Formats: sequence, structure tokens, C-alpha cells
Amino acid sequence: MAKSKSVWVCQNCGAESPKWIGRCPVCGEWNTYVEERVSKPAAGQQRGVVSSSPPRPLTEVSSLDHRRLVTGTGEFNRVLGGGIVPGTLILLGGEPGIGKSTLALQVCLQLSPAVTLYVSGEESAEQIKLRADRLQMPQENVLIYAETRLEEIIGQIRHLSPQLVIIDSIQTITTGEIESAAGTVSQIRESAGKLLALAKETGIPILLIGHITKEGTLAGPKVLEHIVDVVLHFEGDPRFFFRILRVLKNRFGSASELALFEMKEEGLQEILNPSELLLSHLDDTLSGIATAATIDGARPFLIEIQALVSTAVYGTPQRSTTGFDIRRLHMLLAVLEKRAGFRLSARDVFLNIAGGLRVDDPAIDLAVTTAILSSYLDIALPPSVAFAAEIGLSGEVRPVTRMEQRISEAARLGFKKIMISGYNAKKIAAKRHKIEIITVKKMEDAVKYLFNPKTRQP
Ligand code: TYD
Ligand code: MG
Repeated sequence: MAKSKSVWVCQNCGAESPKWIGRCPVCGEWNTYVEERVSKPAAGQQRGVVSSSPPRPLTEVSSLDHRRLVTGTGEFNRVLGGGIVPGTLILLGGEPGIGKSTLALQVCLQLSPAVTLYVSGEESAEQIKLRADRLQMPQENVLIYAETRLEEIIGQIRHLSPQLVIIDSIQTITTGEIESAAGTVSQIRESAGKLLALAKETGIPILLIGHITKEGTLAGPKVLEHIVDVVLHFEGDPRFFFRILRVLKNRFGSASELALFEMKEEGLQEILNPSELLLSHLDDTLSGIATAATIDGARPFLIEIQALVSTAVYGTPQRSTTGFDIRRLHMLLAVLEKRAGFRLSARDVFLNIAGGLRVDDPAIDLAVTTAILSSYLDIALPPSVAFAAEIGLSGEVRPVTRMEQRISEAARLGFKKIMISGYNAKKIAAKRHKIEIITVKKMEDAVKYLFNPKTRQP
């Protein structure tokens, strides 16, 4: 038997140290070291696929692709690259309450008649039953197993040979080989390593659910990312109904896929046409609203930007955003003030991206600035115009990537015009699109086109 030894492990990044340290030299976090006991030295241990087969020619290795397990959730399959590859270890991370358990249970229920095993270390079987009842799907082939001891779980997986295993959550699972408490880095790493070996050996795909807190303090997911084959992240604003399933890593497919879901009373519903849902289709034209053609992952969609500019009541004007980087808003306001001559420094500015989504795409800059000016001037933008360009510090309208996709999406949704950077125009085959392309090179040009009564075009 290996000797038990004690190490201090950073609960944020998994770095190890023989003694306690106040600040982790690897990730820079403070006060994250916790003493853990391991019976085997963790460092240098081989955690990959344990294989006893001799080397063989690549041509003799069978392709996994055609054996993918296709679940009943189309968007889940698509995100994974067309279904679950046998023997995959998937990590589904996300903040508590976002809907990870719901998604996993739904995938299991929809896999029927295939037998699936749902291991719950968090909720009782009765609680899961309650959730399953809400989802209103046949429940015959889902086995619920409330257990946290890894050795028992592995025994059951071997015994039952299900088509898919869910572990909800990896932070509750403990292996008897390690003395540390559940949820510590060494427990998580060891358990995940064992489950990986099991998945590879039996070909049974295993989906691990892992919690991530807002501060990222809880151990695990970061350490896990290196072990697992696929990392999925489930995110969204809990106050809204939209949820995004994002791929952060995929050994068997594209890592830039993304799917949208809507959390409903009876479970998660796939959103096949995000743009249609994200636009409010108001009949009246209101000031302060602009539509941006954005891309997230590999997916183009149109999204509504709402701005409100009002006179500051207190000395210091307020700036507040939802779904948009506040520093970027400050920068855009400074550009509008300095380069386009709008006196916004004494105004409160509120910016909102519809649906509770977070967008980091710089291509929405032009929509943000035009929405702000529309509210400031109280002139509504024509609802048939979409925007896609970045704004530079000197007020220049800059080109953005994947313009063709953005234009096609706007055209598909019936937009009549799209305003883009003049520097993008050269590469665009304008004739191919059923939409008028307006090109601008400076913020002033956009202002003239949209707001100046003498030069206004739409
Ligand atoms: P849950 O899957 O428990 O989240 P997680 O496992 O990520 O912690 O989902 C929690 C939320 O989802 C909860 O606030 C209730 C809501 N919900 C619905 O709105 N509709 C449903 O059908 C279900 C099952 C849950
Ligand atoms: Mg849960």
C-alpha cells in the first residue's frame, strides 16, 4: 500500500505545495490553500487512457464518428459535433441554479428507450422525480441512483452497462483512496481520473456536472478541464429565461459551437432561431433601440440593444449596463463626446442587451453608439436597419470578422439595410445579398446618415 501523505492544494487552480502559502504563485489567488491527504503521490501520475493493447497501424483503428450516441435533444447533439462519442467524459459546468441538472435529466429522458443512469449526490431520488414530472416525458428507462461513493458507482456502472451516465455533481463524489473531504481538488481529480479510465475501457459516455461559483472559488472544474474530453458551459442570467450551452473544449468536434435554450415551466426548450426570439418586433418605433448583427461561437444572430440617456439628477452621472462591458461603454461615450461632439458627460446612460445575454463581440459597438444617440436625440432609428461594426478610439468605424454571415442573417430576418464599416466593404459581394449595404468609415458619417435632418437617408 502506498503511504499516505499530506499536501497543500490551491482550491482555485489545483497547484500543490508542501506547506501552506497565503497567495498561490500559480493563479495569484489569496487564501486558497487547503491541506489534503493523498495516499498516492499525485504528481507525475499517468491519468490518460490506460491501454494494454500493442501499437497498431492507424488504418486499423476504427473510426468513432459513426458510432456517436444521438440524443433526443437536437441542439445538444449539434453542440457536441453530432452526438456523444462512445467513451467520452464530458464536463457540464455552470453556476448553481442555472439548469444543469434539468438539462442532464432531459437528455436522459429523451434517450429513451436507451437505459441511462443518473447518479445524484446532491438531490434525493424523490426530488429528481419531482423534476422529471415537470418535464413530462416517459421515465421508464432512467435509473436514479443516490450515491456519492465512487467505488459503489463504478460497480453499478459495470453491472448495468447503461448507454449514458450522469454524475450530479462531481463535487459530491468521494473515493475511499483519499482521505480529503468531498469537493477538494484531490478528491475531484482522483474521481474524475477513475471515471475517465472507466469510460475509455467500457465505451460508456459519462457526463459530469460541476458547479462554478461566480467568483470561481469552488475547486474542481478548472482542474477537471484538463482531464475530460469535452467541456460544456451552461450560462445565462438566472433572472431571464435564456440559457446558452457553450463548448469550451471538444476533442471530437468544434470548440466554438453554441446552443440556446429557453427555461420554461416544463423544462428547457431548444431555440432554433435565436434572432427571432431576441428581437422584440415592436410595431411602434421607439428611440434608443438598435439591432446588432453579432456572432457568438460559430453562430450569427441579431440582438436588440436598448439605451436610455437622461439628464443626471445627481452630480456624478450614472452609467449602468446589463450584458455589456461597462468599460467599453465608457470608452464609446468618450468617443461620441470627443469625436462626434455629443455632450454626454452630464447625462446618465443606461444600456441593456435584450434577453439577459452577455455579448463580448466588438461588432455591436456601432449598434450601441447609435442606440445611445437615438435616445439622446430622441429620434427613433428605422427598425429595418441592422448594424455590425467596431468603433475605434478616434471615432473610426472598423471592420469586423465574418461579415458575410452577419449580412446573411440580417437579410434572412427581413432587414432592408445593414450598416457596416467601409473597410469591410471591399471583400463583400454586395450583389449576392438581398439587403442594402450602407458603408461608413467614421462615426460622423453614421450620424449624418441616421440623424442629421438635412442629410438623413432612411
Ligand atoms: P437546476 O437544473 O436544478 O439547476 P442546477 O442543477 O444548475 O443547479 O434548475 C434550477 C432552476 O430551473 C430552478 O430555479 C427551477 C428552474 N426550472 C424551471 O424553470 N423549469 C423546469 O422545468 C425545471 C425542472 C426547473
Ligand atoms: Mg443541480
